Amino acid sequence: MHRIRTLATGLALAGATLAAAMPAFAQAYPAKPITWIVPFAAGGPTDALARTIADRVSREVGQSIIIDNSPGAGGTVGAAKAARAPADGYTMLVGHMGYMGAAPALYKKLPYDPVKDFAPVFRFPDTPMVLMVRKDHPAKDVRELVEMGKKNPGKLFISNAGVGSTSHLVAALFAASAGMKVSLVPYKGAGPALIDVIGGQVDGMFDQTNTALPQITESKVRALAVTSAARVAQLKDVPTLAETVAPGFEASTWYGIYAPKGTPQAVIDKMQQAYLKVMTDKAFTAKMSAQAIQMLPPERYTASALGKHTAAEVERWKSVAAKANISLD
Ligand code: MLT
Repeated sequence: MHRIRTLATGLALAGATLAAAMPAFAQAYPAKPITWIVPFAAGGPTDALARTIADRVSREVGQSIIIDNSPGAGGTVGAAKAARAPADGYTMLVGHMGYMGAAPALYKKLPYDPVKDFAPVFRFPDTPMVLMVRKDHPAKDVRELVEMGKKNPGKLFISNAGVGSTSHLVAALFAASAGMKVSLVPYKGAGPALIDVIGGQVDGMFDQTNTALPQITESKVRALAVTSAARVAQLKDVPTLAETVAPGFEASTWYGIYAPKGTPQAVIDKMQQAYLKVMTDKAFTAKMSAQAIQMLPPERYTASALGKHTAAEVERWKSVAAKANISLD
């Protein structure tokens, strides 16, 4: 009897010690608004997707999520800012394929390491991209655009969200696989880059479906091709690059939430749990699917899956960048 009482007291004490060992802020987390750094101008696809997801995750965790647009150098300025932020769960990065996957292969001096300086939290669904031209562009289709590009080296002006952004990388990969030289024009985000396609200041650009579709539907721009392996349902008549000028071409953008390294595991678990619950809401995911955003199997949304994916992408981009001879100079 005495032994049983001692054991019970011991277990209760161990529980109390464990709870005490968990920092108070992790138990109460989130006790104040959380900031997500979007390293591009407002109005672009990263900003739009982040706001859609932040709205639902914030309701789940019972605190607001504030979007901090910190553009510059294809997302690397905002990513560096997130890497240096306190690891307390109140600042996180909306990361993507460019500055969290390709950047180490492109920048000689990158002020952060996507793998070593961050703790992955969860992965968003992927977004395919669309090659669009201004509405009065003489190229009727992507074959004609490539013919023009080949005949006039450097005379096709393709806007993008900044050097190292996905709109820059995918345009560079497209030009390399089509065997032409184009002029890549950087902006502070895909939002301003798209405004200049609509305004006719440049020939075209690659943009994510979530921000491209409304402009295509309203005939403000013309879609010539999609970058996914298969056509997207909302643009049935628009071919893939793979079936036209670039066999085997496939490039969808992946996104994820990252916390600075050292963020307490309890914080990461709480955010991941909230997000995974949001992603079981069929009405919510249907809203994203209507923008041609590609849902993933649930196990690929997790922190550990995002961590593995990030490391694999950093490796993959070393050879992709070398083969396509992508340079940031
Ligand atoms: C990109 O092209 O990398 C981004 O999606 C840009 C943006 O969201 O503005």
